[in-house]
Amino acid sequence: MHVIILGAPGSGKGTQSAEITKRFSLKHLSTGDMLRAEINSGSELGLAAKAVMDEGNLVSDDIILGMVAEQLKNSEKGMLFDGFPRTIAQAEGLDKLLAEEKSEISHVIELDIDTEEIVERMLARGRDDDNEDTIRNRLAVFNKQTAPLIEYYRSQNKLSTVLGSGTVEEIFARIEKVLSA
Ligand code: AP5
Ligand code: MG
Repeated sequence: MHVIILGAPGSGKGTQSAEITKRFSLKHLSTGDMLRAEINSGSELGLAAKAVMDEGNLVSDDIILGMVAEQLKNSEKGMLFDGFPRTIAQAEGLDKLLAEEKSEISHVIELDIDTEEIVERMLARGRDDDNEDTIRNRLAVFNKQTAPLIEYYRSQNKLSTVLGSGTVEEIFARIEKVLSA
């Protein structure tokens, strides 16, 4: 089983991923976490990515697909994709990578949550890219480049939309119901 968790910046993808991977024995693949690890390691890729991430823009599809392909090569387990794919090109690239292994995405969980609640959550956290200007741009980038994926997966009958507000436990219970069905 391969699952995608899709949602705006700050919608709770990372938080719910921790619960989902435990419950369904999936491997967590967060492209944001992978990029932050590159930044911390001081690599050239990290340096280039940091400038893009600090603005709240997207790192190039080629770099992202290259990183993901590397991870898929080394994994026997079902995956939980968090923060990836983020563009139609990434989604098509992922479909191709999985098809090479005679596999495919089983479910896409969309976290649906109000913008103002998201901004409050992120300002309270305070990651490097959690200042008001960058957050607004991340949300705009999401609406323009990532939101089209909702239709992409709906047309494949893979999309389930889950209400993303409430406690962590309440939201997880909604997701668990979808993935157990
Ligand atoms: P990424 O790391 O993916 O960040 P994001 O999508 O902006 O989302 P966040 O990680 O901020 O939020 P989340 O949805 O995981 O929510 P969380 O659980 O943390 O990407 C960062 C950047 O990397 C991008 O802008 C881009 O530049 C680049 N990048 C990454 N992937 C890429 C790709 N595929 N292509 C191109 N570029 C890419 O929750 C948020 C906060 O809310 C936390 O403090 C949490 O504790 C709190 N919270 C969570 N749930 C609840 C709840 N139920 N109630 C109250 N608070 C809650
Ligand atoms: Mg995250």
